[in-house]
Amino acid sequence: MATTEMAAKGGFVLRRLSPALGAEVEGLDLSRPLPAGVFEALRAALQEHHVVCVRGQSLTEAQQIAFSELFGPLEAFPEKDKTRSQSTIYNVANVSPEGRHLPVDDHRVIAQKVNARWHTDSSYRFIPAYCSLLYGIEVLPPEAEGGQTEFANLFLAHDALAPEMRRRLEPLFMVHYYEFGRRIFPQLPPVSQVERDFVPPTCHPLIRVHPDRDGRRSLFFTVNAGNEVSGMELEEGQRLLRELAAHVERPEFCYRHQWRAGDLLIWDNRCLLHRAIEYDAARHRRVMRRTTVAGSGPVLGPFSRA
Ligand code: OGA
Ligand code: MN
Repeated sequence: MATTEMAAKGGFVLRRLSPALGAEVEGLDLSRPLPAGVFEALRAALQEHHVVCVRGQSLTEAQQIAFSELFGPLEAFPEKDKTRSQSTIYNVANVSPEGRHLPVDDHRVIAQKVNARWHTDSSYRFIPAYCSLLYGIEVLPPEAEGGQTEFANLFLAHDALAPEMRRRLEPLFMVHYYEFGRRIFPQLPPVSQVERDFVPPTCHPLIRVHPDRDGRRSLFFTVNAGNEVSGMELEEGQRLLRELAAHVERPEFCYRHQWRAGDLLIWDNRCLLHRAIEYDAARHRRVMRRTTVAGSGPVLGPFSRA
């Protein structure tokens, strides 16, 4: 059944957000248990459109966690000052948990800037995240500059590569590591030994195959969790990653989400990159709350089943 038909059966409206990716949903209240079939329709929409924006929500932390857990077990965040009451809630905010607009040199505000580079959540884990759910609590007014979240479709970006480039990428792996954010922003407090042990560096293939999508291939890399390509000289790997980052920016692969308060944005980390568009953090408050659903297995490369 097409996802629009499933949506109609579930009593909600689904509209595409852009040619590249994304759909918005209206007519659902995620704070309560969902009628039969609705969750399956949402999951199918996520599989087809890669980003689903459920509009008009009003969610407590517990309600967001309960809905997120329908997708699977949640990840806990390695650093405690990113979270408030629970390690599965990540405050994506330039406002303290007590509601104070933080100065731009506060490390919690600087840490957000790591998100301004193309990335996919938890790529530094051996099993990276399946999907993330970001709930917009305080968002920028529509006339303000920046503050959107941009996504790039890595299936489309992969398919548009020249055949020689695809062949070149096939045997390559990127080294991902959590601490790379500290290299970008050395003023951030160091990662503790416990956190370092919890997320050691890990390699993932630059081209991944998706067994739940008939073995389709997509790109898989970030520019916020590393700059090394395994088996390459550092500079050569950096050049390659920069080239890939420039490639995915083509408008036909991308969608930029303009937030409305009450949006719950769900994205599939396995086939997209995303980044926060910079904004004037001294002038505007921006408060979001993220939950992240763990992946179910390691990233498979083109030769994983050879
Ligand atoms: C995140 C993230 C983007 C944004 O929370 O994982 O990348 O726009 N956020 O805040
Ligand atoms: Mn992110």
